[in-house]
Amino acid sequence: MGDILDIITSRRTIKRFLPKYVSWENIAKLIDAARHAPSAGNIQNWKFIIVIDQELKENIAKACYEQYEITAAGAFIVVCAEPEKGERYYGSRGEKLYTIQNCAAAVQNMLLEAHALGLGTQWIGAFEEEEVKSLLKIPEEVRPQAIIVVGYPQEIPPKPPKYPLETLIYFNSWRSKMRDPAKYMNDIATILARKANTTIQVAKESAHLVVDKAKEKITARKAK
Ligand SMILES: Cc1cc2nc3c(=O)[nH]c(=O)nc-3n(C[C@H](O)[C@H](O)[C@H](O)COP(=O)(O)O)c2cc1C
Repeated sequence: MGDILDIITSRRTIKRFLPKYVSWENIAKLIDAARHAPSAGNIQNWKFIIVIDQELKENIAKACYEQYEITAAGAFIVVCAEPEKGERYYGSRGEKLYTIQNCAAAVQNMLLEAHALGLGTQWIGAFEEEEVKSLLKIPEEVRPQAIIVVGYPQEIPPKPPKYPLETLIYFNSWRSKMRDPAKYMNDIATILARKANTTIQVAKESAHLVVDKAKEKITARKAK
């Protein structure tokens, strides 16, 4: 099995799409990826509205603060949360936190599956919620959380900067940095690899010294 990290790191937010149709087979695969995401208590309090109608896409784009470029993409998937269900199971935390996390996990699964299928995606969070609800006849108690634009990329933007690993990690407590994480984690493979490298380095330096000494002796002999 390939490393999914390659899929994760090479995925990009696509902002320019080819005016190309996305097959139902592919859309279904994205929803399949979404529904397999983790959710608190497995409550799966999400629904997905697929939009392919051009006029509706244009109205939605307007509600996304006029991000009209998205209308070229084949389909939008509007990820809707059912916070009431979250609240019923887990109170305020379920409603305000788990519901959002559940949907975010479903979205990320879709983005990765789309990328693996050669499709491009754009996660749109900036939209007039009430306007989108009205366009899609979404009931009062349901919240559209994200609009996932799906299509074939016209161009793939360069990778934006991401914070380096070491700037994001603390050990055991907030702001507590570790000078040698491998040693702390008892990561034998890394420690042995380091030792092996040091040994190779020492051996190389010693070999150079021996060769230099031999050269010196030869030069001295020749000079006699
Ligand atoms: C919650 C959320 C909301 C976003 N909203 C928008 C949006 O409204 N329009 C847009 O073009 N991109 C949006 N994005 C995409 C980000 O701009 C993008 O992920 C970020 O620039 C990093 O680029 P990358 O996805 O290629 O790594 C959103 C992403 C997230 C997670």
